[in-house]
Amino acid sequence: MSTAPQNPTARPTAEQVEAAWKDPKLANVLYHDWEAQSYDDKWSISYDERCIDYAAGRFRLATGWDGRPYGHALELGSGTGFFLLNLMQAGVATTGSVTDLSPGMVAAALRNAEHLGLPVDGTVADAEILPYDDDTFDLVVGHAVLHHIPDVEQAFREVLRVLKPGGRFVFAGEPTTVGDAYARTLSRLTWKAATTVTKLPPLQGWRRPQAELDESSRVAALESVVDIHTFDPADLEAMATRAGAQQVRAVTEELTAAMLGWPVRTFEAAVPPGKLGWNWAMFAYHSWQRLSALDAVLSRVVPRAWFYNALITGTAGQWG
Ligand SMILES: C[S@@+](CC[C@H](N)C(=O)[O-])C[C@H]1O[C@@H](n2cnc3c(N)ncnc32)[C@H](O)[C@@H]1O
Repeated sequence: MSTAPQNPTARPTAEQVEAAWKDPKLANVLYHDWEAQSYDDKWSISYDERCIDYAAGRFRLATGWDGRPYGHALELGSGTGFFLLNLMQAGVATTGSVTDLSPGMVAAALRNAEHLGLPVDGTVADAEILPYDDDTFDLVVGHAVLHHIPDVEQAFREVLRVLKPGGRFVFAGEPTTVGDAYARTLSRLTWKAATTVTKLPPLQGWRRPQAELDESSRVAALESVVDIHTFDPADLEAMATRAGAQQVRAVTEELTAAMLGWPVRTFEAAVPPGKLGWNWAMFAYHSWQRLSALDAVLSRVVPRAWFYNALITGTAGQWG
């Protein structure tokens, strides 16, 4: 299936933003269409070894993947394709389909896939109503998408419907309730500090134009509408199980790594695009790796609900 996204828009009007306050799905389309153009820069997303390792690492952590490729994989809430395209490059799946509620995101993901020469099609789709037949996919993945979906259990039911018997789903990058609280606090403080300090004359080269900062704040305020859920890992497992999944398992990661990662990402968004460069991206990634190793040790004694990132996997019936 290949449906070219129609008319992705870049900048929501004040009226659209107003209407989106009452409609989380409209908010998601506006917010993510707006973000689609700059999303890869904002989140330091790339399609090279760094992000391939990251995506494959999350997949392995969730599933204990043995390196055998899956056939056809579907991604929900693909954004620009970060998770599935990098998983495909790691050899996790041979063909892919990207879907997202935001036409701008689907267009960006298809452009990225074409650029990488990957066999991927895509369509605009709501994760609660997937436009695919039963038993279509070997694998369904998603990254940082479940917390945007109003009815997560309905999305799990759809995932299980479109999976072939024995097929697997993997969702990663979901905020835990405890992790979200400290991440948001640290991000708020970082934004305030970065946008205040860069008013000083010697640092003004690090300041984005005020109109851009104001627009960021206005549309980013929609974040409180699009970020619908945070999860306790045990509740997430219960939800997938109620939807009919088998062999369900949630794991968490990132405690100190998240306490570094969120301020870093917020700082990157507060300064002019491209200002920090490749060395900064590598510094941030290597620091994240070191703290993640520390967190792996801490996970032996710290409750899983305290870590920021939740990952969940399960199957449609028994695997194999
Ligand atoms: C935080 S972004 C993550 C994008 C990408 N997966 C990544 O990790 O870079 C969440 C994505 O989910 C999409 N989304 C939100 N609600 C959705 C829904 N109900 N169905 C499908 N996609 C949805 C948004 O449009 C957005 O592109």
